[in-house]
Amino acid sequence: MDSATFAITRNDNPVPTAERDGILADPGFGRAFTDHMVTINWSAGLGWHDAQVRPRGPFSLDPACAVLHYAQEIFEGMKAYRTEDGAVALFRPAENARRFAESAERMAMPALPEALFLQAVDALVAIDGAWIPGGDGSLYLRPFMFASETFLGVRPASEYIFCVIACPVGPYFKGGRKAVTVWVSDQYTRAARGGTGAAKCGGNYAASLVAQAEAIRHECDQVVFLDAVEHRWIEELGGMNIFFVMDDGSIVTPPLGGTILPGITRASIIELAREAGMTVSETPYAFDQWAADAASGRLRETFACGTAAVVSAIGEVRSAGGSFTIGNGGEGLVTAQLREALVGIQRGSRTDSRNWLHRVG
Ligand SMILES: Cc1ncc(COP(=O)(O)O)c(C=O)c1O
Repeated sequence: MDSATFAITRNDNPVPTAERDGILADPGFGRAFTDHMVTINWSAGLGWHDAQVRPRGPFSLDPACAVLHYAQEIFEGMKAYRTEDGAVALFRPAENARRFAESAERMAMPALPEALFLQAVDALVAIDGAWIPGGDGSLYLRPFMFASETFLGVRPASEYIFCVIACPVGPYFKGGRKAVTVWVSDQYTRAARGGTGAAKCGGNYAASLVAQAEAIRHECDQVVFLDAVEHRWIEELGGMNIFFVMDDGSIVTPPLGGTILPGITRASIIELAREAGMTVSETPYAFDQWAADAASGRLRETFACGTAAVVSAIGEVRSAGGSFTIGNGGEGLVTAQLREALVGIQRGSRTDSRNWLHRVG
């Protein structure tokens, strides 16, 4: 089925309004969840079926549920924003639907029709719209799919559950807009050619946690991964893509080659930078070059970008070999300009000439 009629069961025990308002005043990130969820089941015999909007609640899983053993799981991350005119909008949700289908293909899972993905997300935003925080906040949406068959054995499962949950969020990094410090891992890599680096599957994140823990031990906010072959070329952060701004105003970002996640923010920033007249090259950039360019002043700024953290300046880089500062350690002008251009579109204060905003309701 390409579209569905969702059976709607309202939560008759929602979070009380006063409690919800308290959460929305300081939502943090990933801590509090809305009252409903969407689920759609898939089985080899029936295909996609049983589309529901229902009260958010736990799944009951058999201990032999395939995902618990073989990690056949994929997810997406996207946000619903309250725009300046009071409407509710999603940013380029069709891109998330497409990437979800590509992740499914890589993980030997059934493709969820993109129209159905969009319908499911819209349905959750519509029913839980009261959970969208004001100000800089947004409603983070987490569509995901996992192998739900009770089965031990290494083969693609024959049953899956697709689900969408949502949580109100504020800034991803505790320091808000302060430039972040990153740790470059020389021990762990994230993905190799032929692996799952371009898919948004849970296993990629499981494998990154030991490096992220190492970053935290070194008082860094995020880990930067280098390529798996030479341990030399910068790939991406644990949950964000990366951009380098040079002294001639040009911008460099690592190319997509199957080992990094094709970020929707990354693609948007490339377009916005080119529109602003900047030269953007998707070209490999080495860690030692990064350090040398930061020292010589050839490199002016570095920023990370993704749905969760939007655009965040990187002020300091640490590694086993030492550390270096980028620019004056704070946010640079190009980083601020590109963030404002992106956020302006997301919040409806800038002309959305590419129709990136998808209004809900
Ligand atoms: C590993 C990784 N890279 C990059 C990104 C940025 O992608 P997007 O801009 O689509 O959120 C994310 C976030 O989803 C991520 O997890």
